[in-house]
Amino acid sequence: VPTRLQDYTPPAWLVETVHLTFRLDPEATVVRSEIRFVPGAGGDLHLDGQALRLLSASINGEAIRPDLHECGLTVLEEQLPDGPFTWVAETRINPQANTALEGLYMSNGMYCTQCEAEGFRRITYFPDRPDVMAVYTVRIEGAEPVMLSNGNPAGSGEGWAEWHDPWPKPSYLFALVAGDLRSVEDSFTTRSGRDVDLRIWVRDGDQDRCAYAMDSLKRSMKWDEEVYGREYDLDLFQIVAVDDFNAGAMENKGLNIFNSKYVLASPETATDGDFEGIESVIAHEYFHNWTGNRITCRDWFQLSLKEGLTVFRDQQFSADMRSEPVKRIDDVLRLRAAQFREDAGPLAHPVRPAEYIEINNFYTATVYEKGAELIRMLREIVGAEGYAKALDLYFERHDGEAATIEDWLKVFEDATGHDLTQFKRWYEQAGTPRVHVAEQFEDGRFTLTFRQETPPTPGQPEKAPVPIPIRWGLLGAQGEVAAGTFVLDKAQDSLIVEVPERPVPSLLRGFSAPVILMHEGAPGDRAARLARDTDPFNRWEAGRSLALDTLVQGADPQDWLDGTIAVAMDETLDPTFRALALGLPSEDEIARQIAETGRSVDPDAVRADRIGLDRKLAEALGPRAAELRAAMATPGPYSPDGDAPGKRELANRMLGLMTRLDPTAPEAPFADATNMTDRLTALALLVREGRGEAALAEFHAQWQHLPGVVDKWFAVQAGQAAPDRAVEVVTALTEHPDFNWKTPNRFRALVGGFAGGNPAGFHRVDGAGYRFVADWLIRLDKLNPMTAARLSGVFETWRRYDDTRQDLMEAELERIASTDGLSRDTAEMIGRIRAA
Ligand code: ARG
Ligand code: ZN
Repeated sequence: VPTRLQDYTPPAWLVETVHLTFRLDPEATVVRSEIRFVPGAGGDLHLDGQALRLLSASINGEAIRPDLHECGLTVLEEQLPDGPFTWVAETRINPQANTALEGLYMSNGMYCTQCEAEGFRRITYFPDRPDVMAVYTVRIEGAEPVMLSNGNPAGSGEGWAEWHDPWPKPSYLFALVAGDLRSVEDSFTTRSGRDVDLRIWVRDGDQDRCAYAMDSLKRSMKWDEEVYGREYDLDLFQIVAVDDFNAGAMENKGLNIFNSKYVLASPETATDGDFEGIESVIAHEYFHNWTGNRITCRDWFQLSLKEGLTVFRDQQFSADMRSEPVKRIDDVLRLRAAQFREDAGPLAHPVRPAEYIEINNFYTATVYEKGAELIRMLREIVGAEGYAKALDLYFERHDGEAATIEDWLKVFEDATGHDLTQFKRWYEQAGTPRVHVAEQFEDGRFTLTFRQETPPTPGQPEKAPVPIPIRWGLLGAQGEVAAGTFVLDKAQDSLIVEVPERPVPSLLRGFSAPVILMHEGAPGDRAARLARDTDPFNRWEAGRSLALDTLVQGADPQDWLDGTIAVAMDETLDPTFRALALGLPSEDEIARQIAETGRSVDPDAVRADRIGLDRKLAEALGPRAAELRAAMATPGPYSPDGDAPGKRELANRMLGLMTRLDPTAPEAPFADATNMTDRLTALALLVREGRGEAALAEFHAQWQHLPGVVDKWFAVQAGQAAPDRAVEVVTALTEHPDFNWKTPNRFRALVGGFAGGNPAGFHRVDGAGYRFVADWLIRLDKLNPMTAARLSGVFETWRRYDDTRQDLMEAELERIASTDGLSRDTAEMIGRIRAA
């Protein structure tokens, strides 16, 4: 039975304080909980619990035998005292057997937790819902050298450690870590003078790969003070890196737990992209301290309240640290790749879903990335000053609360006077709006007529218009002649500008709304925007649109080739921007665009056409590719930020093009590489050309001791194997001694790297790719439902393809669905996908 937003009721009982004592044992950890309950809305006491063994329970010191059921326990109202009472219980859990990686589990011999969204109920009986906020005191007993929990240290001795977190928090922010860990330490002084100890905990030997994470943390702390006026609120901030983790990272109060891939980096072991990922995830989790922890969510339907806002904040941070236009292009690429894809298929759902069966299935691109876009639009609509005022009011009004999307919008209304009634539809309506544009120039008046329409999504056949902020500019022969923002809030509306000559319009600048703009304009307009738009995003977008014309409609690529090469050779432009302009849309993006036209997708043709266009670009560039590559050399010590990553990106893009014409081109770069960015690019190109054997062996021998690098070794083979034999390649790799499929990162590197990274291989017309993925999904589901369910998303596009492939995918979906003991997580995902 689904949980519904409309069924929300406030908690019957609230919690003031929680005292937890853990007696650690890998197979039989005993958890004693002492919980001070105070009356809330009143009623029975229901405590969530899962995979727990209840050893004893008492209320105000009197033993009781509560009524146990599958998802928890109940004590009837008549058996409860009238006022506040103290509940004490002991439960036993088995961290070693916990392969779901939710609750308390073991990773590499160390104890760690993941409680969001509903993992705390696997630790002890508790009202495991975010609107129950309490002050936690934790005692950990065990033989582990390091034993950590949230908040500040409150004492320790031989075999024990105590922690106290003064800030009331929901149970999903609880964390415990224990094991043989080493720390890297630093400190930060907040602007009001609080000295905060910073500690990053890693396995012995990894201490020298924490510097970038630490630096990112300090920059995040400073940035949040300067830009949002938010200061840190404890004496200690800790980060722990773990290898077995379902997600990227987790913002537990004062004790963030990270997938080690978002902490550990050195020039030899991490790519420029990895460094950027670390910077943004460290920032994201740190920013949650205010947007998520101090102000949390009333219930899980409000998830985007913290995630959309925190993604928006981390995007702003990265834009400030690096190049703003480049960051925007990267974010839009990501949005289209994951969220537009999701929104166009059976898993489409609103930013605030109205119901769910398993909440873990809603940690999606829609809740995160589209959620961030909604906040970007709000800022566009009310202006930067209005946004700042609204955010100040949000922190002032809701600090310490579990809030809702309504609260969030009300703050904007109260602070800025805007009526956001219609804007709320953005949170409730799934699907990507299409905006059609017609232009007319007459008697010095340029008229742009916009029409919006959102296609139906599952459960939502009819859509109402949403307010769409469209940033625009008009380009005359001598440069920009007018610019502004037009908010399209009706089904159709027009913008009229007086200009002497017909201009080249540049619309949806900076991608000011998450919509699909259907606007080609007059012939030559896109080439003109690619050559001279003053908005960098739209300049890039014009090139992208020309490339898609060729790849989707088979148009003549000449305009794209000329315009792109001009950008590539323009030394006044940022190298990263030039590299982005030279990039081709991914096979999946091309497939989405073809499906958008109503045709069925042939994955082999998509791949062949894309390679064909890449080759044309290589031929058109000729010797300039090698020259540009040489000009982009970055001698001297490696730097993960500044100009160097962009230069490497452009140089490596050139190498990719050179390899189209000479498959031996990556050999010397592979041998000579002094950093992982260059090394991995060359390796991928060698594998792509079927010449990777020796390089793969060398790479493996060099890095087999580092899990994060071995993940890359798997992923590169899964993604670059020739499509006609990719299934055989990945099947053989599942037999490799390093294929620890129970570790999510390794599983995702190989199985996800194939299904997501090698579309033509996955969609092989005999169905072997589908079978391979379904087999592994079924296998993983028994151990780790959350990660298995997430993998089902590779089938969400099944309706795009020809009948043969659709039938084959449908058969695999049906086989998964009829598996005995399928998890609730995967059952929900497969059910929604099949309903399409
Ligand atoms: N709140 C975490 C973050 O965004 C992610 C938690 C993922 N949990 C899950 N159940 N999928 O930083
Ligand atoms: Zn988050």
